[in-house]
Amino acid sequence: MNLTLKIWRQQGPQDKGKMVDYKVSDISEHMSFLEMMDVLNEQLINKGEEPVAFDHDCREGICGMCSMYINGEAHGPDRGVTTCQLHMRMFKDGDTITIEPFRAKAFPVIKDLVVDRSSFDRIQHAGGFISVNTSGNTQDANAILIDKHDADTAMDAATCIGCGACVASCKNSSAMLFVGAKVSQYALLPQGQVEAVDRVKNMVAQMDLEGFGNCTNTGACEVECPKGISLENIARMNREFLSANIKG
Ligand code: SF4
Ligand code: FES
Repeated sequence: MNLTLKIWRQQGPQDKGKMVDYKVSDISEHMSFLEMMDVLNEQLINKGEEPVAFDHDCREGICGMCSMYINGEAHGPDRGVTTCQLHMRMFKDGDTITIEPFRAKAFPVIKDLVVDRSSFDRIQHAGGFISVNTSGNTQDANAILIDKHDADTAMDAATCIGCGACVASCKNSSAMLFVGAKVSQYALLPQGQVEAVDRVKNMVAQMDLEGFGNCTNTGACEVECPKGISLENIARMNREFLSANIKG
């Protein structure tokens, strides 16, 4: 395949940035999107030009690093996959592909396609943990009976990889699907009850402090989430938040 790429180039946080056109040739439909980007960068390096900066790590849908907005969609046109799992067979020979960073006030651009998502880390630090007995006589986790439905729902919430596609897809740059998943994975389990009240209050407060917008039930986050995190998690977070504020 031969492709035209329109890529956001931005030297640093203070640079205005602009779209730049590139041509790439001999792209196999079996390549992943990031492998196609590697080919482009090799071409740029060989020509003495600066390669396009983009985030990646695991390249297998686990780490959540590969934040790219491709043809107007977070992680591109496929469903249930991250950019590193997106294959070039989703595109046609001669296509023009637009590639931008995830855009949100709380995700400032560092360079080109790389954004700073440490706001998510700070939300996690605010409450995304549990207290456990590490004295050596810790109770075996399997000794605590947990309703199968609750265990499955908590595990579904825990599959959130913190990629930020929900924020990038939301017209309000809301992080409520992410925070809802992180609150839910503990709220559904007995181990999460010790800090439950403080957790939801602190995580929501940090989310607001970081400058994320509010949820207006559009649902774009759920559609674009590569892990299929359900909007039910936002509803659960809202219930937890209300209940925590009533408890004081
Ligand atoms: S909820 Fe989905 S889209 Fe949002 S950070 Fe988690 S995995 Fe990514
Ligand atoms: S590089 Fe890890 S999820 Fe894409």
